[in-house]
Amino acid sequence: MDLIPEWNPEENIMMETEVRKKSTENMSLNVVIRNAKREDCPEISRLTKELASYLQKPGEVEMTVEDLEQNGFCIKSPLYKSLVVEDPAETGEVFNSDGSTDLPRKLIGVAVFYYGFSTWKGKILYLENFIISEKYRGNGLGEALFRQVCQVAKEEDCKTLEFIAINGTRAINFYRRFRAKDMTLLHNGHLYMIDRKDFT
Ligand SMILES: CC(C)(COP(=O)(O)OP(=O)(O)OC[C@H]1O[C@@H](n2cnc3c(N)ncnc32)[C@H](O)[C@@H]1OP(=O)(O)O)[C@@H](O)C(=O)NCCC(=O)NCCS
Repeated sequence: MDLIPEWNPEENIMMETEVRKKSTENMSLNVVIRNAKREDCPEISRLTKELASYLQKPGEVEMTVEDLEQNGFCIKSPLYKSLVVEDPAETGEVFNSDGSTDLPRKLIGVAVFYYGFSTWKGKILYLENFIISEKYRGNGLGEALFRQVCQVAKEEDCKTLEFIAINGTRAINFYRRFRAKDMTLLHNGHLYMIDRKDFT
């Protein structure tokens, strides 16, 4: 069994979901949640920068669109996978006379994840990036997207779904709704990293 299963971005639309807009009575959003395609990389990058700004670390995103393309779509075993949320009403597209389009649609949400292996648990899914664009928040889109990520984890037989939630963000309440357990408390530990310049 492959640790990283083949990912076919052509198996495209995973679901269409209707969520009610809290702000405007009687209005609903019909969104599409689908696997990301290579053409979505600029939008994934834009949403990642939006998240960095929200977390008040606007200059800290070093990853480039090329990194996303290369590691997600140009190698045999991609290092990550991504689900994106598209609002068909948000047309970033330019329609040509023959019906083809020049630009991908503007994305309103993204989940980036990859598989890992825990010597205690086995195969795990690690959710690296999860964001719903600011003006769309609070309408149930985050829940719809998170449920899809959980579905992927289930289908791929992962034992746990793991992620970091930043202290003081409303996301913590969101994750608690899904019965997320605080691993810092569970393991009485901290997450560490070593910068490249300090590799010995
Ligand atoms: C967390 C997030 C993905 C949730 O998406 P969403 O579409 O707003 O979520 P839903 O509408 O399904 O659920 C709303 C719930 O999410 C939580 N929430 C978290 N951040 C929120 C925000 N900025 N605005 C509204 N609700 C938010 C609330 O608990 C809310 O519950 P409530 O309506 O009872 O207050 C989204 O708010 C977001 O992108 N936040 C900023 C980025 C972030 O913190 N990402 C996680 C990385 S740590």
